[in-house]
Amino acid sequence: MSLLPDRFSLRGKIALVTGGASGIGRETVKLLSEAGAHVHIVDINLEAARSLAASLPAAFPHACDITSESQVAALFSTISVLDILINCAGIGLVGKIDETALDDFQRLFRVNVEGTFLMTRAALPLLLARRGSIVNIGSVAGMVGVKRRFAYCATKGAVHAMTHQLAVDYPTELRVNCIAPGTVDTPFVEGYIEKYHSHEKDKVRAELNLRQPMGRLGRPEEIAGLALFLCLPAADFINGAVVPIDGGWTAA
Ligand SMILES: NC(=O)c1ccc[n+]([C@@H]2O[C@H](COP(=O)([O-])OP(=O)(O)OC[C@H]3O[C@@H](n4cnc5c(N)ncnc54)[C@H](O)[C@@H]3O)[C@@H](O)[C@H]2O)c1
Repeated sequence: MSLLPDRFSLRGKIALVTGGASGIGRETVKLLSEAGAHVHIVDINLEAARSLAASLPAAFPHACDITSESQVAALFSTISVLDILINCAGIGLVGKIDETALDDFQRLFRVNVEGTFLMTRAALPLLLARRGSIVNIGSVAGMVGVKRRFAYCATKGAVHAMTHQLAVDYPTELRVNCIAPGTVDTPFVEGYIEKYHSHEKDKVRAELNLRQPMGRLGRPEEIAGLALFLCLPAADFINGAVVPIDGGWTAA
């Protein structure tokens, strides 16, 4: 009998996705749910989390700012079992070092790095109890320099480093991997175009496409597919990896 269905299924698993109400997180919630998992959707945008949860068979919306230690503690007081943690919530910032205000630098670190730290630390006992799996959403910006993304590159480098480090401390007790997407077509990118390039949207969209040698943006469901794979039993030997999914960007 083929083992395929079990190795490629999340039936009976409980997952949590931060930033699950939009973009990559949203598509990941949908795919994990389709693979059979029950999914906690954690976001500051409760309304969007609620409406997504309502469209799925077993999903639970939670309002939680991952930068708040007390909100993260309150969240985990309501969750007693967890197999999968997807740290996806994140924010961006455009600027060279001399264009970067300390407040903005710290805000980026609070969400992208401290938020990942707080969520992972709170989830750890539950994940250890089930030999669970963590998937962090890093970025090509953590692997190579991206023009005028000083703070963002620094935060994503830290996310990659946290992934490597955790895999060393808990080599058999859980799995932890990281996805490094290129530019992905989500509200995150549309928001950037609107904020910084509202007068030249088509030109900037074309430039963003060309960052990927494939000549297009990634689709959030493509990143979600990799996130799903990394949590499956089929991926059991993948640990401490940072996996690019970038249309060839970092191969260049
Ligand atoms: N879109 C891209 O091109 C791209 C590329 C590489 C990496 N990434 C990373 O992927 C992740 C998701 O990006 P996206 O493009 O889907 O963005 P998005 O803006 O569509 O979604 C991000 C979600 O995170 C939530 N969020 C933000 N701050 C939060 C907080 N403090 N607590 C809880 N939730 C919070 C937002 O409400 C939103 O629902 C981010 O970590 C981002 O850095 C995105």
